[in-house]
This record gives sequence, structure tokens and C-alpha cells, in this order.
Amino acid sequence: MTFKAVESGRRNFLKILGGGVILAAGAGSLFALTRTPTKAIEPWKLALGPDANADPRHIILSHAILAPNPHNRQPWVVDLGTEGEITLYCDLDKRLPHTDPYDRQITIGLGCFLELAMLTAKEIGMNADLQLFPEGENFPRLDRKPVARIKLTKDATVKPDPLFAQILERRSNKDAFDTSQSVQELDTLSILAVAKNNVATGSITEKTNIESMRKLTREALLVEMHTYRTNKESIDLMRMGKSEIEASPDGIDMGGVFLETLGLLGQLNRDDLVNPESSAFKNGIPIILEPLETAMGYVFIKTDGNTRADQIAAGRDYVRMNLKATELGISMHPLSQALQEYEEIAPQFEEIRNKLKIAPQETLQMFARIGYGEKPNPSPRWNYEAKIRSS
Ligand SMILES: Cc1cc2nc3c(=O)[nH]c(=O)nc-3n(C[C@H](O)[C@H](O)[C@H](O)COP(=O)(O)O)c2cc1C
Repeated sequence: MTFKAVESGRRNFLKILGGGVILAAGAGSLFALTRTPTKAIEPWKLALGPDANADPRHIILSHAILAPNPHNRQPWVVDLGTEGEITLYCDLDKRLPHTDPYDRQITIGLGCFLELAMLTAKEIGMNADLQLFPEGENFPRLDRKPVARIKLTKDATVKPDPLFAQILERRSNKDAFDTSQSVQELDTLSILAVAKNNVATGSITEKTNIESMRKLTREALLVEMHTYRTNKESIDLMRMGKSEIEASPDGIDMGGVFLETLGLLGQLNRDDLVNPESSAFKNGIPIILEPLETAMGYVFIKTDGNTRADQIAAGRDYVRMNLKATELGISMHPLSQALQEYEEIAPQFEEIRNKLKIAPQETLQMFARIGYGEKPNPSPRWNYEAKIRSS
């Protein structure tokens, strides 16, 4: 949840308080200023420009770490031991075993990372030779073997990609969209058109289909929230308030004046949020579902199979689509619940595949709502230096 979402959800959160102490409207702007997790969002400002003297790998990494990734776990870790090479590994502790039992989504996030690395390499005139899973793919879970190796060489003939310009502007927008503004078919098509890694893309733009998808995404989110272990996985990753966000700039950031205040007053705690009987849980549901009702269309990515290379390709193309949407001023928000592979979600998993006409051997890799919305603040990041493995 973004800071803005929290602010705009203020009236709703008052219900959670149920008549408790309320921060007066307009109060707390000084508090707000001091509670922005400035350090956690610094990596968005620090992405290094094409400085001729810098190690190009650092320039590349400072951009790649801004990639979208599930629950903002930032599962990447790199080895720079060999000159001119970046070897990418998955940090196995950052996986999501309950909502992502086969590491499919984590691998997609690593694909997003690789695409931003490739775009940055081009931007600084480097040829990047990318080899996926150089020691073999790993199933059913990822393991310690490398995910990718990139060999970099200077190459004056490399052409920059205009999508690079959107890396610092890109967001996942989890807030409500403007329901008075439709997304034009042509714009949707130009978002789909930037996919180039041998995946298939599709969209939903027709009103009745959008309505039935809103219902399905809502149901899927409710299943995730009412399944104790999948809900707990998210709740455990919530960073509530500035000090938690700054201490661990990853996971699901819950910041902003209002939530900070609730936290300080002891009105918001993890035990309540995993307990469907608590009023925090019950009153929170409509707030969490609200943005889903404002979807103005959807885009999706499917692959013929479900190899690790397919998942990486889906990630590379997902972030390309997210960057293109950014260029067009269109917000995107992945909604992955119905795509997940755990038992309780099976009915919604089947239903979304049927609705999108996914063939039995195909895999639905990404599904996101689109629309127009206010640009959220950037999400927290660990600096790239924290992600370099020391050997
Ligand atoms: C594979 C994948 C699945 C995702 N699924 C969801 C999702 O179901 N719901 C959601 O709110 N965000 C989802 N996201 C978006 C991430 O939460 C987001 O990328 C992360 O918090 C970082 O924020 P940013 O994209 O604004 O930098 C997903 C991202 C990826 C790459």
C-alpha cells in the first residue's frame, strides 16, 4: 500500500478505530514531513547516470534494483567477482513459499530485474550477452545455482531503447483509478506491442468483461486473505511506519501519517490483521477491495510452457509493458491472486484461465489492471550495494 493510498483511505480507517482517538483533519503535516521514509526511497534518486568513470556494472545494478517484484522482496543478489560480468542469483530467503510455492513469481521478478539491466547496458553503450541458468534450470524450487550471467563489452553500435527513460518514473499503482477515464484501445495495444521475448499478450477492454473480472479478482483476494498461511505471509512482510520501513526497505510498506498514528496508538497490530474475527480485519476488507473495483481494463502475459526461461521472459516483458504504460501516463497494478498455485485458490485459478482462454499447456504468468490514477510515491528499496555478494 502506498502512502497516498493510506491518506485517501483515511476516512475508512476511522471505522477501524471505532470511535477511538482520531488525528484531527489537517493536523500532522509537520509530522508527515518527518515521517517520510526518505532513506528507503533514496535508491530512486541515486540511480547513477552514465558516468564515464564508474564501473558500468554499478550503473546497471543501480537501475535494475528498481524492478517490480512480488511483495517487494527484492530477491536478487549479484556476484561481481569476474571482471565485466554480473552473475545473478536468487536470494533463497526472499521467496514466498505459501503464495508462490514453485518460485514462479519470484523468477518473474528476477526477469524484470534482468530487463532493466539490459536496458541500462544499452543506454551506456554496452553489449550485454545474457545467458540464463548457465548451470541448468531448477525445479520445483529455485536453488543456489545462478539464474543468469551477463557478459558486458563496449559496443558503439548498440542502440538505446526509449523505455529506459521511464525506469525512474515506473510504479505499481495499487490505489483506486479514475473510473471516469477509459483506457483507449490503441493505448492498450501499444502497451502490449512492446513485449518482445516470445510471450503472448492479451487484454480485456470490454465493459461487461471488465465487470466480471473485477468480481473474480475480488473473490481471489478474499480467498488469499481468508487462508491463514497465505494471509500471514503478507502480514509478516508488512513494514508499519517509517522506522520499520527504513530498517527493512522491502516487503509491503504501510506508511503515512494516519497509519503511523494508528500504530503508535496500538490500534494496528499483526495479530488482528490475521484474525478474520477482529474488527481491523473485517473493516479492512472493503478498503483493500476498493481499488479492484476501479479497474478500467486488464493486460496479461501467457507463455506456451512454464520453464524458468518462460518465467524470465514473462518478467522481462511485464516490466517493458509497465514502462510503456508509464510513458503513456497509464497506471498498472498486477493482481496475481488467481494465478497462484496453492490448493485453496484452485476454483479462481480455473476460472481466470477459462475467461482468458488459456490452453491447457499454457501458463498465465502475469495479470494486471490498468487505468488512470495519481502517481504514487516510489516503493522502498535496498541500495544496489547491499545486493552485491561479498565472496
Ligand atoms: C510477479 C509479480 C507479481 C505481483 N503481484 C502483485 C499482486 O498480486 N498485488 C500487488 O499489489 N502487487 C503485485 N506486484 C507488484 C509488487 O508488489 C511491486 O512491484 C513491488 O511492491 C514494488 O513496487 P513498485 O513496482 O512500485 O516498484 C507483483 C509484481 C510482480 C513482479
